[in-house]
Amino acid sequence: MNCVAEFFTYETTKSVVVKSWTIGVINRAVQLLIISYFIGWVFLHEKAYQVRDTFIESSVVTKVKGFGKYTNRVMDTADYVTPPQGTSVFVIITKQIVTENQVQGFCPESEVKYSCVSDSDCQRPVPTTGGILTGRCVNYNRSLRTCEIQGWCPAEVDTVQAPIMLEAENFTLFIKNSIRFPLFDFEKGNLLPNLTAQDIRTCRFHPVTQPFCPILRLGDIVRFAGQDFSKLASTGGILGIKIGWVCDLDRSWEHCVPSYTFTRLDSVSEKNNVSPGYNFRYAKYYRRENGTEYRTLMKAFGIRFDVLVYGNVCTARQPAGSVEGGTVLCDIILLNFLKGAEQYKAKKFEEVSPREVEPKGWMGLVPLSQLGALSLGLAGC
Ligand SMILES: *[C@@H]1O[C@H](CO)[C@@H](O)[C@H](O)[C@H]1NC(C)=O
Ligand SMILES: *[C@@H]1O[C@H](CO)[C@@H](O)[C@H](O)[C@H]1NC(C)=O
Ligand SMILES: *[C@@H]1O[C@H](CO)[C@@H](O)[C@H](O)[C@H]1NC(C)=O
Ligand SMILES: *[C@@H]1O[C@H](CO)[C@@H](O)[C@H](O)[C@H]1NC(C)=O
Repeated sequence: MNCVAEFFTYETTKSVVVKSWTIGVINRAVQLLIISYFIGWVFLHEKAYQVRDTFIESSVVTKVKGFGKYTNRVMDTADYVTPPQGTSVFVIITKQIVTENQVQGFCPESEVKYSCVSDSDCQRPVPTTGGILTGRCVNYNRSLRTCEIQGWCPAEVDTVQAPIMLEAENFTLFIKNSIRFPLFDFEKGNLLPNLTAQDIRTCRFHPVTQPFCPILRLGDIVRFAGQDFSKLASTGGILGIKIGWVCDLDRSWEHCVPSYTFTRLDSVSEKNNVSPGYNFRYAKYYRRENGTEYRTLMKAFGIRFDVLVYGNVCTARQPAGSVEGGTVLCDIILLNFLKGAEQYKAKKFEEVSPREVEPKGWMGLVPLSQLGALSLGLAGC
């Protein structure tokens, strides 16, 4: 019975003003300490009062322009950009080794490393690039015998020297980037509102003089990334164009601007000789009038551009009520260690039972205006 009575009680906060120098000084000192900690460390040093969002939604559209000359052909965007959809990752082909008129059939491998003397040299498993080994050793030309393959013939010779399309240095890249920080519903794009139609035709990006121009010269990008254009165009490589959006939303919308940086991403292929650069193969397929299929195989070397968008945005946060922590500390000192702690305790935690209170009837006597406050208090308990 007693336990049940203990359980069905209600505690309400009561403010006790203690006029004591000791506890008063401690209280104010602790408050001062907490406030100066907040201002000095949390606010000014760590900037932890800010809410930060690093999740960024972004879309990138790219468009390359320019004409180049390669092996007596004028090359346009459709010839040297792949994939053609204007994605954030694309390749500009600067060098090609072309093998024309390949048909399905049997033919000797083309490289000296597949040379053989008799069929037995071609029976062991040798990795080939041209096709499946048939196990026969055949004449490649008058002086060289190589293993025969079944596949697309004649086999590609990719050790030849091919020229590079130097004009690619003057090609331009237009980047259109839209971003959104969903937490703050903040949207912006890299085409700033003060960019005129005239600018878009004539400007060229430069980190100091034209930092917001969305048109970049390929030669400049390669140079900003610390690379040599003709070397990179010859071996192929991967460059990163990073667009950073680091914004403080407490400043105006205009102050949130993109910053462009450039870097070589495939530094591993730069530093070792096993797999230098970047290349890939693709083919175009045709059919003769008599129905046989043939293809043109291309080994393409090129510069791959990856447009990477990153960012974070922050805004001020209301400082939380950490000063309350001081009250807890002072209460501990007051109720346990100070002279007369017992009296303070008795004043702070006063027990009231209905018998001590003069009977006044029930709720009906409480004025309506006080009922509102009462229900508020109940909501908190
Ligand atoms: C045969 O082919 C190899 C490899 O392509 C080449 O080095 C060699 O000069 C060729 N020999 C003749 C006689 O054409
Ligand atoms: C690039 O353009 C400049 C100026 O328009 C020109 O002088 C230069 O020869 C061009 N470079 C190539 C490789 O065509
Ligand atoms: C365009 O606006 C940005 C800031 O929004 C500013 O830094 C830049 O100088 C402006 N450009 C011109 C040409 O006024
Ligand atoms: C088709 O024509 C090509 C040359 O034009 C020839 O090499 C090939 O053998 C022909 N194929 C057939 C099935 O006639």
